[in-house]
Amino acid sequence: MKIPFNKPYITGNEIVYMGEAIKSGKLSGNYDFSKRVKALVKAKYDLEGIFLTPSCTSALEMGALLVDLQPGDEVIMPSYTFTSTANSVLIFGAKPIFCEVNSKDMNIDVDKIESLITSKTKMIIPIDYAGIPCDIEEIMLIAEKYNLIVMHDCAQSYASLFKGEISGKRAHLACYSFHDTKNYNCGEGGALIVNDTSKRERASFIMEKGTDRTKVVQGIQERYSWVEKGSSYLLADVLAAMLLAQLEQEGEITKKRKNILEKYIEWYNELSFKHDLKIPVYSKDKHPNAHGFWMLLPNRSMRDEFLKRMEKNGISAYIGYIPLHSAKMGLKLGYKPEDLEQTENFAGRIVRMPIYAGMREEELEYVQRHAKYELESLLVNNDDNR
Ligand SMILES: Cc1ncc(COP(=O)(O)O)c(C=O)c1O
Repeated sequence: MKIPFNKPYITGNEIVYMGEAIKSGKLSGNYDFSKRVKALVKAKYDLEGIFLTPSCTSALEMGALLVDLQPGDEVIMPSYTFTSTANSVLIFGAKPIFCEVNSKDMNIDVDKIESLITSKTKMIIPIDYAGIPCDIEEIMLIAEKYNLIVMHDCAQSYASLFKGEISGKRAHLACYSFHDTKNYNCGEGGALIVNDTSKRERASFIMEKGTDRTKVVQGIQERYSWVEKGSSYLLADVLAAMLLAQLEQEGEITKKRKNILEKYIEWYNELSFKHDLKIPVYSKDKHPNAHGFWMLLPNRSMRDEFLKRMEKNGISAYIGYIPLHSAKMGLKLGYKPEDLEQTENFAGRIVRMPIYAGMREEELEYVQRHAKYELESLLVNNDDNR
């Protein structure tokens, strides 16, 4: 059997809506389907200031423009994140300051943030790894204390809840990804949420190449002109049509993924050697969207051997991120691997297991059977590996 790490889920309505979008002749951004997506997100999660973008990467960049990030500014973020989190500040001449992650959810270690704050710190960008919300409440308190902006990179956590609210609702800015590796996708897509109402008008200028074209679209004025620095950050309406089909079925997609996640947790709990492995701590305040399931193995060599064996069985499990501070670019920025020991340690031991909404019972059972066998032979029968 071949088990991919991820498989985009298609609801069936995508092609219908995309056809309608094409027939309407309104193919670029902010037309009917974009409006419908925003209305749905507002109705379901009480989010406003929604700007649909071509990716989460572009949403992060748009956010950095919006807060006027300058050369020399410092931005604190976990080292254990995707390159886009760091690039979004680096391209404006600002400096990513990498923070450790904790092993309970692989998110930023809140206890280590304050020691990284200097007079140059402007922003914090936490992420929600594998869809588990970070400790946003504590992060917002730190931000308030030092007058910092928080841009929450929720690339993996659309529909995850923190204390009953969607992840992304509490920070000043938040970014989602609708890339085809995510739970709900339109191929490539994203959104910037501007929770800070005072920044919304400027965001609309930045998104529209630095013009006030939105005012023309809204019928407020006849012509538009150059009013700001900006770029092109609109999601084409044809893709918004695909996204609408996905978000209309979000409950169904999430339910399917949660079902798989729960079965992974049950499987883990029944392992006689589970104490040699660690899985995320699922706290009662956090309801992840089941974007991922991961385990920490005792050491890197065992992790690498486990992945090799899974691959031999046709199963694509995955290592997660390579920490940014010890990646080629991180080293160029002056970091050394030992600068963030916790992150190096956890990132070297993590395994992400396959999970997708369309995963069949027999596929999951196949993964679990092989994973149990291989883990058992590595952990129990082979003490030399410890
Ligand atoms: C934390 C994080 N931020 C940003 C991104 C980039 O998302 P996109 O591909 O939509 O640009 C990803 C992609 O996986 C991610 O994991």
